[in-house]
Amino acid sequence: MSAKTYPVLKDAKKRALIDTATYQKWYKQSVADPEAFWGEHGKRIDWFTPYTKVKNTSFEGKVSIKWFEDGVTNVSTNCIDRHLEKRGDQVAIIWEGDNPYDDKKITYRELYEHVCRLANVLKANGVKKGDRVTIYMPMIPEAAYAMLACARIGAVHSIVFGGFSPDALAGRIVDCSSTFVITADEGLRGGKPIPLKANTDRAIEIAKRGGVDVKSVLVVRRTGGKVNWFAERDIWYHQAVTGVKADCPAAKMKAEDPLFILYTSGSTGKPKGVLHTTGGYLVYASMTHQYVFDYHDGDIYWCTADVGWVTGHSYIVYGPLANGATTLMFEGVPTYPDAGRLWDVVDKHQVNIFYTAPTAIRALMGQGDQFVTRASRKSLRTLGSVGEPINPEAWEWYYHIVGEDRCPVVDTWWQTETGGILISPLPGATALKPGSATLPFFGVQPQLVDNEGNVLEGAADGNLCITDSWPGQMRTVYGDHERFIQTYFATYKGKYFTGDGCRRDKDGYYWITGRVDDVLNVSGHRMGTAEVESALVSHDSVAEAAVVGYPHDIKGQGIYCYVTLMAGETGSDELRKELVTHVRKEIGAIAAPDKIQFSPGLPKTRSGKIMRRILRKIAEDDFGALGDTSTLADPAVVDDLIANRQNKK
Ligand code: PRX
Repeated sequence: MSAKTYPVLKDAKKRALIDTATYQKWYKQSVADPEAFWGEHGKRIDWFTPYTKVKNTSFEGKVSIKWFEDGVTNVSTNCIDRHLEKRGDQVAIIWEGDNPYDDKKITYRELYEHVCRLANVLKANGVKKGDRVTIYMPMIPEAAYAMLACARIGAVHSIVFGGFSPDALAGRIVDCSSTFVITADEGLRGGKPIPLKANTDRAIEIAKRGGVDVKSVLVVRRTGGKVNWFAERDIWYHQAVTGVKADCPAAKMKAEDPLFILYTSGSTGKPKGVLHTTGGYLVYASMTHQYVFDYHDGDIYWCTADVGWVTGHSYIVYGPLANGATTLMFEGVPTYPDAGRLWDVVDKHQVNIFYTAPTAIRALMGQGDQFVTRASRKSLRTLGSVGEPINPEAWEWYYHIVGEDRCPVVDTWWQTETGGILISPLPGATALKPGSATLPFFGVQPQLVDNEGNVLEGAADGNLCITDSWPGQMRTVYGDHERFIQTYFATYKGKYFTGDGCRRDKDGYYWITGRVDDVLNVSGHRMGTAEVESALVSHDSVAEAAVVGYPHDIKGQGIYCYVTLMAGETGSDELRKELVTHVRKEIGAIAAPDKIQFSPGLPKTRSGKIMRRILRKIAEDDFGALGDTSTLADPAVVDDLIANRQNKK
């Protein structure tokens, strides 16, 4: 925990929408009378029919979360149509390609036409309100058009990150019985093509075996690379959109109609389809975007996430566009053509607000300051961080070197489930402490509890819960409300449990310490240990596997796998490589194991439960403090594990 505090910067305070006193006043109001507070702020979006009910939520029993429930609206008209009169010619999306010479700008009027055309294509192909559309796309404007076109006609999108494998894509298609897929021929990252259409073809075959028959695939031509074509199923995007009207009426959506599903990993089982709905989500995404980044009209805003993750949903597309912002969409990677790319792009497009992940900051920090200082960066005003705890060293580098001591760093804590930022500084209101996400946003009531559920007051270290609902909260797990209740509201009755550990200091600042469940955070990507384990055991040579995280300088956490082989198999470097390839194929490159230890046995209790605490310690090379091993069925296993550990320092 860093002891340093950085007071609110003078300039930040001067221009800020929210100062310290306003933050305190609004925060108090928001928790004392959520009805009144959100009743007022819900008006920040346009409604076809205004709501009369504001909050109808319960974390008890069956758990039911409804906001603005009798209001009628549409997300795409809020993100596009309502801006046309004033900002039709303003740039809505700046697209920066993988290749630095490749870029384009799309105005709000152009965005309107692209989205309407695509919405008409969806309709012409039989997509209706409530249908699930899978989007498996590179970071190109068509990904945003696809999201907004779905929203326009009331279809529910499910975006699958382009780095996921055909198997992972298929699982998500099957789970929400989605029969329409939007993809591209290939993606392009760091100069390398990614075979999205070929992966989609493969996924569709797998999904068919899972009982879901994909009827149509709409394909954007991105690279012109060769693809297989199935005439009865595949549709070229560029051909389809020319034959339809550039106008499309927006569906009248109830506030609680679904907007999107986004799959995310938990501590057990398959990824869950996190369901977000229309009205509350948009109110919350747009409000947090405005206040957390202190967004002003005319600002150029850049979030480096991928639309395949929730950050891309809320803070590349929905939040910024609802606010009429100019949002930058980046196709490439921070190190291509070299490690100065991000700062070159900042100068090129005069970016004012920049939002990225600690893993990128740590990776670039290791490349040397010259890549940063060769760019002017004078346009920068606010810096953001998201996805994992930021270590104070990385924070300080971001603040001093990238931001030259003049840009507040907002360390934003939130989750796929929360829809938007829950704990974060506000640039003109909050003194900063490197490594702390600081204070809750309006309406957010964090609470720390111990493992028995006792509430901890004052300075304390515990499990982070939220005691009451906020409009951006997920509503259910798609198709499995019981799993929603069990995952989030059963551990500590009547509270939303985040799965994160957290410390609160004497000033009431929150310091997220990481997951307390079996979820890994690798380079800001969330992954269940159970998913990697099941990928490993699906290999013929593997009998059993246990996966834990260990501290990794750049990725935050690395993936350490203990693998017990089938009788007769022997461990070798070759088999290690094969297993890495196998996991990449099953899940995607982001799940590739960093270390594999072949272990004849795993430390289990007499009832057969694997003692992960011990495995974590050995993976961290900290086996001096293994704690009590007397309950193990076979304590000798531990000696072998220590002797053959793969992470000797
Ligand atoms: O452990 C927390 C970590 O990322 C988890 C949520 O992951 P995901 O749903 O993929 O969403 C990531 C983007 C919002 C959290 O449970 N996390 C996210 N932001 C932070 C963080 N940990 C510490 N500090 C953060 N700012």
